Amino acid sequence: IKRIGVLTSGGDAPGMNAAIRAVARSAMKRGIEVCAIYNGYSGILSEEIKVLNHNDVSSILKQGGTVLGSARFPEFKQPEVRQAAVEILKKHGIEALVVIGGDGSYMGAKLLTELGVNCIGLPGTIDNDIAGTDFTIGFDTALQTIVEAVDKIRDTSSSHRRANVVEVMGRNAGDLAIWAGISSGAEAVFIPEQDLSLPEVLEQLKKAYDSGKRHAIVILAEGCIKNGLVESPEALAKLIEVHSGFETRATILGHIQRGGSPTAFDRVLASRLGAHAVSLIAAGIGGRCVGVQQNRVVDFDIVEALETMKHVPALDLYNLCYEIV
Ligand code: F6P
Repeated sequence: IKRIGVLTSGGDAPGMNAAIRAVARSAMKRGIEVCAIYNGYSGILSEEIKVLNHNDVSSILKQGGTVLGSARFPEFKQPEVRQAAVEILKKHGIEALVVIGGDGSYMGAKLLTELGVNCIGLPGTIDNDIAGTDFTIGFDTALQTIVEAVDKIRDTSSSHRRANVVEVMGRNAGDLAIWAGISSGAEAVFIPEQDLSLPEVLEQLKKAYDSGKRHAIVILAEGCIKNGLVESPEALAKLIEVHSGFETRATILGHIQRGGSPTAFDRVLASRLGAHAVSLIAAGIGGRCVGVQQNRVVDFDIVEALETMKHVPALDLYNLCYEIV
C-alpha cells in the first residue's frame, strides 16, 4: 500500500490531533504516504486533499480541536455521492482511509469499505458512547474540563448557600455525567439511561439543606432533556428550589467541554489507536474499528460494532455516585 488518507468527522474532540499525528507518523515509518483530507467526508468531494510531510504534524499533539477541520455530512448517505468519493480517492491514489469520529462517521467508513476502499474507524468523541471501546478519544479531557468547572461552581454555590444544576454534554449517553458526578462529589446525577425517582432526590436535597449543608451540585446529562426525563436545567433548578430550601442556579457548560489541550491519557490513547489503525491498513485489512478494552488495544468488525454491539454506561459507577453522597 502506497498512500492512505486521514480525516476527522462529526463533533471534534481533544486528542483528535494526537490521533492524526500517530496515523501520519506511523504510516511514514512504514514508507506509506499520508494525505490529509480536510473538513470530514465533504473534503473528499471538494478535493481538499494534501500530502502530509513529517513536519506537518509537528506540535499538533497538544492542540485541542482538529487541525483537519470536521464536519457532519449527511449527503454521504446518498450512494451516488459515495461513488463519486471513491472515484476522487482513486484519482489521488488513496487506497485506504483512517476515519476519526463518532459512530455516524463509522457508517461512512463501513460504506466506503464496501466500495473497495479499506477504512478503519477510530473513536473520537467526548461522549464515550461508542461500542467496543472502554474509552473514546476526548472523553478524559472533557471530563477534566467539567470537573474544573464544577469545582469553581461549588465555591460560589457554597458562599451563597445555593444548589446548582450543571448540564453536561454526552448526546444520549450518561458517561460524562457519571464520571463527573463521582469526581466532583455531586449530590445528585441524572443520566438518560436510568430513570431516577425525582421525589427521592428532592427529599435528599431537602435533608441536606435542613442539616445545614451550604451547597449542592446536581449534574444533569443533556440526554435527559432530549428523552424528556427533565424539561430543562432551569426547570429542574426551580423544582429543587421549591422543595429543598436551597436557592438555585442552573449552568449549561456547553462547548467549553469540547475544547482544550488533551490530557496525557487522551494523547496516549489516541497515539495507540492511531498506530494500530495503520498496522491494520498495512496488513491489507479494512472495515474495522479500533478501541481499548481493559487497557489492551482491540479491533472489531465495523458492521458488527454498528449493528450488534451496544455501548452501555458504567451503571456500577452510577450507583457509586449515590452510595458515597
Ligand atoms: O458528540 C459530541 C457533542 O458535543 C455532543 O455531546 C453534543 O450533543 C453535540 O456534539 C453538540 O453538537 P454541535 O457541536 O453540533 O452543537
